[in-house]
Amino acid sequence: MLAMLEILVAFAVFQEVFTGSSLGVVSTEGGMVQGENIRLGYRRHMDVFRGVPFADIPGRFEKPQRHPGWDGIMNTTEFKNRCIQINLLMTDTRGSEDCLYLNIWVPHGSSVSRDLPVMVWIYGGGFLIGGSMGADFLDDYRYSGQQIADRGNVIMVTLGYRVGTMGFMSTGDSSLPGNYGLWDQHAAIAWVHRNIRSFGGDPDNVTLFGESAGGASVSFQTLTPHNKGLFKRAISQSGVALCPWAINKNPRKFAEEVALKVNCSTNQTMAACLKMTDPVLLTLAGKFNLTSSPDSPIVGNLLLSPVIDGDFLPDDPRNLFHNAADIDYIAGINDMDGHLFTSFDVPSINRPLQDTHIEDVKRLLGSYTKEKGQAGLDNAFSTYNSTWGSRPSREIIKRTVVDIGTDFIFLVATQAALSLHAANATTGRTYSYLFSQPNRFGGIPGLYPRWMGADHADDVQYVFGKPFSSPLLYWPRHRDVSGYMIAYWTNFARTGDPNEGELSVPVTWPEFNSTSHLFLEINSNMNKDSVGQNMKMPYVHLWTSVLPSLPTTV
Ligand SMILES: *[C@@H]1O[C@H](CO)[C@@H](O)[C@H](O)[C@H]1NC(C)=O
Ligand SMILES: *[C@@H]1O[C@H](CO)[C@@H](O)[C@H](O)[C@H]1NC(C)=O
Ligand SMILES: *[C@@H]1O[C@H](CO)[C@@H](O)[C@H](O)[C@H]1NC(C)=O
Ligand SMILES: *[C@@H]1O[C@H](CO)[C@@H](O)[C@H](O)[C@H]1NC(C)=O
Ligand SMILES: *[C@@H]1O[C@H](CO)[C@@H](O)[C@H](O)[C@H]1NC(C)=O
Ligand SMILES: *[C@@H]1O[C@H](CO)[C@@H](O)[C@H](O)[C@H]1NC(C)=O
Ligand SMILES: *[C@@H]1O[C@H](CO)[C@@H](O)[C@H](O)[C@H]1NC(C)=O
Ligand SMILES: *[C@@H]1O[C@H](CO)[C@@H](O)[C@H](O)[C@H]1NC(C)=O
Repeated sequence: MLAMLEILVAFAVFQEVFTGSSLGVVSTEGGMVQGENIRLGYRRHMDVFRGVPFADIPGRFEKPQRHPGWDGIMNTTEFKNRCIQINLLMTDTRGSEDCLYLNIWVPHGSSVSRDLPVMVWIYGGGFLIGGSMGADFLDDYRYSGQQIADRGNVIMVTLGYRVGTMGFMSTGDSSLPGNYGLWDQHAAIAWVHRNIRSFGGDPDNVTLFGESAGGASVSFQTLTPHNKGLFKRAISQSGVALCPWAINKNPRKFAEEVALKVNCSTNQTMAACLKMTDPVLLTLAGKFNLTSSPDSPIVGNLLLSPVIDGDFLPDDPRNLFHNAADIDYIAGINDMDGHLFTSFDVPSINRPLQDTHIEDVKRLLGSYTKEKGQAGLDNAFSTYNSTWGSRPSREIIKRTVVDIGTDFIFLVATQAALSLHAANATTGRTYSYLFSQPNRFGGIPGLYPRWMGADHADDVQYVFGKPFSSPLLYWPRHRDVSGYMIAYWTNFARTGDPNEGELSVPVTWPEFNSTSHLFLEINSNMNKDSVGQNMKMPYVHLWTSVLPSLPTTV
């Protein structure tokens, strides 16, 4: 009897092993790697590779180089260090210069997967912070690809790239040209194109996606001439190359400030001196200035950004859209993306018992329109106060501050990028969205106002399926919106059309074109009214047409 039981148990174990699909050891251009195989359910397994090198340890302020390769089997079961960056308290650094690694999630059914679409995630963090795996919360990493890969049946890749001083400092000339972090992303994308077939991926079906500085990075990767044929589709969430913070037009000024802090002279010896300086000191010298006011908004402190270097970016991004003519592109924003930023500039917007003064609205607008002087401010203010009536409520004034931030920092540039993409597209499609799922903590005094919509980065948790992996922290409606986003995103990766693929969607998302300007509003309550047209047109018109036509006064 006992023997019989043992045989049964052995058989069950054998069955489990037999039905558990795994790639086993995978051969890449640098050598062999072995990941971890996890069981997700009956006949559902996933191979996870953490810390796969896509380039050598980078030289300081140099483009990444191919990895020299290794002997034997590399155990790729642990995430590697982030790239060296300032810590959250900005008191110290974390991470390493040895950081050019990516992570891969490959789902399998009863047989090993082949030719799956591939989605490559580029993290945000103001080009200053971030890691390929994101923060660890109760052993669920923020950018774990598991939910997207499993639900959407796609391969997920998350890449690391240099940030902060080491990733983006530039002297504005050939001595330290900058854009090192963008070159890292490009190296990872090229590695995926060359190697993903060994992992069961289709190298001709690669989609980039990213949020904030990651969304802008995705946009830069579509605009550079260096990525021809390496990927087919792209999604920019709350960030495009045209955003006012995405390019630093005068990078030398910041490089000189860094040089002075680390005791380098700012004459011809500056670049050589910076290259010899300890990366910890350089990283600390590039720390983010959190001091802001309506007269000096915080977004202006994001100075370690990509630059027009004549190489990765041969020209101003708005003149490079022909390079994206065959890329299918989704771009969108959150309805209150500006809240996080304007909370620093005008803290009263979050204090329910405190007024926000009309003077603060004018000061913030005046800063954003500074180049256009009084005429700029008058035009802008009369546009934003047009819905106020004669006695605007406390709430409407606060919401206007958030709207101004959202428009200036994200919305307007995203609409401009969508229009340029659609106008230059040959085979590439264009889709626009507005994410408006209200923040879960709306109404907590001092944190989020009662009328809060979707703040900056609120979309990320839904795209990564957190309401499924941490079900106790979310309501069923949050699982609905997460399911919708994963369906649109992975369908798009599979077919170039967010409506067509393995997952059904609640509403058909129509294409954006130069005449229709249609967009999809994404939240947990989707129905036929979720399709809109001409997102915030009078405001887009103000920033893209009225203000630029005024004479510059400073
Ligand atoms: C590889 O990683 C696994 C899991 O962490 C561990 O059990 C094994 O000993 C490692 N092998 C080598 C060669 O390091
Ligand atoms: C991508 O994958 C889809 C579905 O597997 C397939 O029809 C298509 O031919 C693939 N290639 C491209 C370039 O879209
Ligand atoms: C720069 O030089 C000053 C004066 O010699 C010294 O106090 C400071 O520690 C130096 N800073 C760095 C980052 O080396
Ligand atoms: C650059 O500045 C350093 C320190 O001030 C000085 O020693 C050096 O002679 C200068 N070099 C040139 C080429 O001006
Ligand atoms: C930080 O920014 C504020 C406002 O722009 C400015 O007054 C201050 O000098 C800055 N601080 C540093 C350390 O750069
Ligand atoms: C294509 O984009 C360029 C800028 O990159 C723009 O000047 C041009 O008008 C666009 N083409 C069309 C047909 O709109
Ligand atoms: C709206 O702005 C215009 C132009 O600055 C101004 O003349 C008008 O008084 C403002 N209205 C309100 C209600 O603030
Ligand atoms: C733009 O989209 C609308 C609505 O989908 C469609 O009717 C129109 O034909 C499209 N125009 C162009 C130029 O593709």
